[in-house]
Amino acid sequence: MKMNIALLPGDGIGPEVIEQAVKCLQAVEETFNHTFVYKEGLVGAAAIDKTKEPLPDSTLRLCKKVDAILFGAIGDPKYDNDPNAKVRPEQGLLKLRKELGLFANIRPVKVYDSLIDKSPLKKDIVKGTDFVIYRELTGGIYFGEKKVNENGTIASDLCEYSEMEISRITHLAFKAANKRNKKLTLIDKANVLESSRLWRKVVKKIGESYPDVALNFLFVDNAAMQMILNPSQFDVILTENMFGDIISDEASVIGGSIGLLPSASIGNGHALFEPIHGSFPQAKSENTANPIAAILSAAMLLDHFHLTEEAEAVRMAVAKALSKGVVTPDLNPKSKFGTSQVGDFIADHIVDDEHALIMNDENIGLGRSTII
Ligand code: IPM
Ligand code: MN
Repeated sequence: MKMNIALLPGDGIGPEVIEQAVKCLQAVEETFNHTFVYKEGLVGAAAIDKTKEPLPDSTLRLCKKVDAILFGAIGDPKYDNDPNAKVRPEQGLLKLRKELGLFANIRPVKVYDSLIDKSPLKKDIVKGTDFVIYRELTGGIYFGEKKVNENGTIASDLCEYSEMEISRITHLAFKAANKRNKKLTLIDKANVLESSRLWRKVVKKIGESYPDVALNFLFVDNAAMQMILNPSQFDVILTENMFGDIISDEASVIGGSIGLLPSASIGNGHALFEPIHGSFPQAKSENTANPIAAILSAAMLLDHFHLTEEAEAVRMAVAKALSKGVVTPDLNPKSKFGTSQVGDFIADHIVDDEHALIMNDENIGLGRSTII
């Protein structure tokens, strides 16, 4: 298969984790005989520095014509503490989502048995956690009308949703639930917000066409608590933009490190894949950032194009790295492996299952791996 992929490494640790994801995609190309063509684009603070824009037109044009986008991270502390900054790196990502119509953000959360001790929660609580968040991504308070009065003392952000915006992601979430454990939880604040009441109404109605899926509702404050008390109760979570942003950061630590979680943003014929972690500027160029979230995002990209065996080969290689302790310092402070060594190991272990290659693990201790 031939595929054009735009690489948008962005800021902070973005470039180094994307480099590892590309290594793994190249291993997939070789192993499974595909051709992926990569083209780089500027985004975020890196783009502001060069062009004064967080999403230059050339990047948007590139993203519109490729099959898929692999995104690193954006954000730079020099903008975070300046409320008067007119341009911000984040605007680049928000504009990209809106322009490409990426209305569904899919964030799987899975606890690996080999990492269970890393979780801040008790083993018994997190064991077996495996859910996926469907976060609406192009509506709600993020994109509603923003106002500030003349003297800058009153500000507001409108949270608006239409039935159409709710129903298109709801169908995707129900379809996912049908293929999984057939449970869908809508997280909202319907006891207070009119927009949440519309979500409930629309989701209930759509639920009638998915009779095999058990639908339940949780207020977002309760959901935040349930996620810590009993995360394995969830299967598919559906929620609006802002609640999804908050809940997914909370969910991301259940498995031990935010550095493990990938995401896909899809809609209207475009698809973007990105690790859910941020740009972590303190770790930039230190070769310590965990590349696994970016690598698993590449696996989601493969899945999206029905390259299921290829995606599985990437995930198997990741599982191998985790079980052999080939991990970055966020997962083991004493680890001698850095971002690029973990990337090399995973790329080296991407194998075609049918040919069941035998791994020679003896060299792992040396920070190298070979396949015989
Ligand atoms: C995310 C991020 C973004 C968001 C920021 C960078 C705009 O936190 O993808 O979760 O809030 O959606
Ligand atoms: Mn977020």
